[in-house]
Amino acid sequence: MDELKISILGTGDMGGAIATAIGRRTRHALKVRGAQPGSASALKLMDELGVMEASKQDFLASDIVFVVVPAAAIERAAPTLSGYQGIVVAVSVSDSVGRDGLPSSAERIATALPEASVVSAFTSIWSNVIREPGKSGKTSVFVSSDDDKAKEVVSRLATELGFEPVNGGPLSTALYAEVMGMFAVRLATDSGYGRTISFHAFNAG
Ligand SMILES: NC(=O)c1ccc[n+]([C@@H]2O[C@H](COP(=O)([O-])OP(=O)(O)OC[C@H]3O[C@@H](n4cnc5c(N)ncnc54)[C@H](OP(=O)(O)O)[C@@H]3O)[C@@H](O)[C@H]2O)c1
Repeated sequence: MDELKISILGTGDMGGAIATAIGRRTRHALKVRGAQPGSASALKLMDELGVMEASKQDFLASDIVFVVVPAAAIERAAPTLSGYQGIVVAVSVSDSVGRDGLPSSAERIATALPEASVVSAFTSIWSNVIREPGKSGKTSVFVSSDDDKAKEVVSRLATELGFEPVNGGPLSTALYAEVMGMFAVRLATDSGYGRTISFHAFNAG
């Protein structure tokens, strides 16, 4: 895969896992940023991975920007990317997705960033599995977007990271993959399967 410029907005548990996976398992050029410039979570990652903080210009020049902020912070975070015309990977999942009457986080990001090509992906995978995909089979990454070219780029990146991309259809279906993310949380915590419980889609026919 050609070298891409990838930036991560949101450097907590999941943003840190994605940055670590990309920084350690690919040769793409990576930059990161937390809620504010110089945020402690971003500085820690920059130190661990030897990468720089993303400026507004870096975001605008990125091929892919991962948005990995709490769902409640999407509209607050979006102005950092205003005018961006590249690929946004929407990873955020609302705690009450499917029950809150809101559109998916991916669709909210698409509304906030109308010039970007928004792709929903990685919403149903635990950060632990992003860091260490494991050896029990490939975890599926459900990839939804209205932009087929952007979907293909993100699917190739998912493959490069050790996952199996599954065509999740248009962005309007992102909600269902986000619900699977919250189901993974419930399975891990309430049902006791732990933070490596994963989904693998296969054709039983
Ligand atoms: N954790 C998982 O395994 C997992 C899996 C799938 C999906 N997700 C989704 O990924 C999202 C992040 O989850 P998380 O577990 O990583 O949460 P987290 O550990 O609380 O991290 C949230 C990050 O978002 C940043 N942030 C908050 N407001 C921001 C803003 N206005 N602009 C830019 N950055 C902002 C925070 O920055 P500071 O550090 O500077 O405060 C922090 O780095 C959530 O929507 C979650 O549902 C998580």
